Formats: sequence, structure tokens, C-alpha cells
Amino acid sequence: MPDQIAKFLEQQYPILITAEQIQAKVRELARQLSADYAGKCPVFIGVLNGSFLFFADLLRHITIDCEVDFIKISSYGEAMRTSGIVKVRKEIDCHIEGRHAIVVEDIIDSGLSVTFLENKLKTLKPESLKFVSLLVKEGSAQVKYPCDYAGFHIPNRFVVGYGLDYAQKLRNLPAIYVMD
Ligand code: IMP
Ligand code: MG
Repeated sequence: MPDQIAKFLEQQYPILITAEQIQAKVRELARQLSADYAGKCPVFIGVLNGSFLFFADLLRHITIDCEVDFIKISSYGEAMRTSGIVKVRKEIDCHIEGRHAIVVEDIIDSGLSVTFLENKLKTLKPESLKFVSLLVKEGSAQVKYPCDYAGFHIPNRFVVGYGLDYAQKLRNLPAIYVMD
């Protein structure tokens, strides 16, 4: 990223988590997952679009046999709050019946998305179903949601960067910024 853009962003939006902190956490999560799923050949399911950078970085550090797939959902539109209605935009292609499935999310806010995914994927009868989220917002949950591996617990603010967007932009930033 050119220096001017980095400087501009740091003035406009306070940085919350640096690229280095993210990468250290990603390696830690990958080590943990690789240990927990040794010999199980899990299927990692990335939730598009937000988790694409986290998913790619995480998978690069996974040291066991695994498969990858994606599901695409949306609930935000162009807004900063969930609409409360989760829509599936792309289904998974793999069969997870009898398999160990690990859903990889960018952030849990209201908890509605991961709860929706849990209910939906459970009907496909996986042997196990766990959730990884890079970020978890404190004090914003509307439901009791599943989360087995959390990267960072963050304040209830709107954040962008490292996959997270505002109106589809700013996903390409390597760090995470507070925007509200
Ligand atoms: P939830 O269903 O309210 O838990 O929200 C989950 C989804 O909303 C995440 O996967 C993100 O795509 C999006 N989201 C929630 N909070 C933020 C944020 O602060 N910035 C950008 N996207 C967010
Ligand atoms: Mg998301």
C-alpha cells in the first residue's frame, strides 16, 4: 500500500489492529486448528465476501490435510447494521455429511449470520461443525451464537479493512480500522 494512502487512513480512521497483529493471530489460530484437527481432514468453509483475506491467510498456515469450500451470504446491504435477514447468495458445493466442517467468518456482530449458518449446515449432518471468527464484537449480540475459535474481541464499533467493507469498499486494506 502506498505510504500516502496509509497516512491518509490513519488520519481518517484510527487503526484498531495492525497488519502484524493480524498475521500473528492468524498463525496462532492455524496452529491451534492444525493440532485440533490432525488426522481428521476437515472442510474449511469460508463465508464470502468478508472472510476472503482471513481465509486465504489462515489456510496458508494450516499444516494438515484439509479441503476448502465457500458459502456466500448477505445481511447488510449498504448499511452499517444488519437487516436481520440473512440471504444465501451461493451454496456450498462439497458434501459435509459425516465430515468435520469448520466455518470461517470475518466478524461476529449480532450473531445472526453464524446462527443462521449453524442451523443451515447442521441439516447436512456433518460429523462436527465449528466456527472460527477473526473478530468478535463485544456487547452487540442479539442471539446466543456459536464461536469456537475467536481471534480478537473488539469494541462495538464499525470496522473496515482486511476483508471487511463499508459499501463494498476498503476490503483491500491490510489492517483493521474503526470507521464510525
Ligand atoms: P452479524 O450477522 O450481525 O453477526 O454480522 C455478521 C456479518 O456482518 C459479518 O460477517 C460482516 O460481513 C458484517 N459486519 C458486521 N460488523 C461489521 C463491521 O463492523 N464492519 C464490516 N462488516 C461488518
Ligand atoms: Mg461476513
